[in-house]
Amino acid sequence: MKEFVLELKIQECSEAELSKEDRQLVEAARRACDGSYSPYSDFAVGAALLLANGVVLTGSNQENAAYPCCMCAERVALFQAGALYPQEAVKTLAIAALTKEGFTPRPCPPCGSCRQVMMETEMRHGGTPIRLILYGTQVCYIVEGGAKDLLPLQFEKDTMNSHS
Ligand code: THU
Repeated sequence: MKEFVLELKIQECSEAELSKEDRQLVEAARRACDGSYSPYSDFAVGAALLLANGVVLTGSNQENAAYPCCMCAERVALFQAGALYPQEAVKTLAIAALTKEGFTPRPCPPCGSCRQVMMETEMRHGGTPIRLILYGTQVCYIVEGGAKDLLPLQFEKDTMNSHS
């Protein structure tokens, strides 16, 4: 029997240790929390992404009384990028989360559906990995590997062509 062991590299640092460009993106993600509509969870999430052309787009979670209609901050930002700048790769995505007690001390990682959309976004742009910056007041995480690190055993376009 063969065995595969996967590795995931996560860099942990404080906000102050981030590069200036990354700190600016984190600040944009924090500000994006202001646009969150989250009366059900009281958990505001902000996402900010940097495109290859230098444009920064943001998103925030949008909830609904019909819970399955809710949309995560990351996908609001990623779909906006796809709709407005379909030719531009997403270089970096920063995420922050705000509760009544303030920004969370630990980073807020993207949910499975957002990871799936990150993966498809990467594929649209030749597999360019999306760097993730997960912000927390105590600690930040940087994940550079993109969806291959975040979503092993991916279901993708080619999965449906596996007989050809
Ligand atoms: N949420 C996000 O916006 N992004 C994530 O990656 C995780 C969860 C939102 C969805 C919902 O509005 C609230 O956080 C609580 O789950």
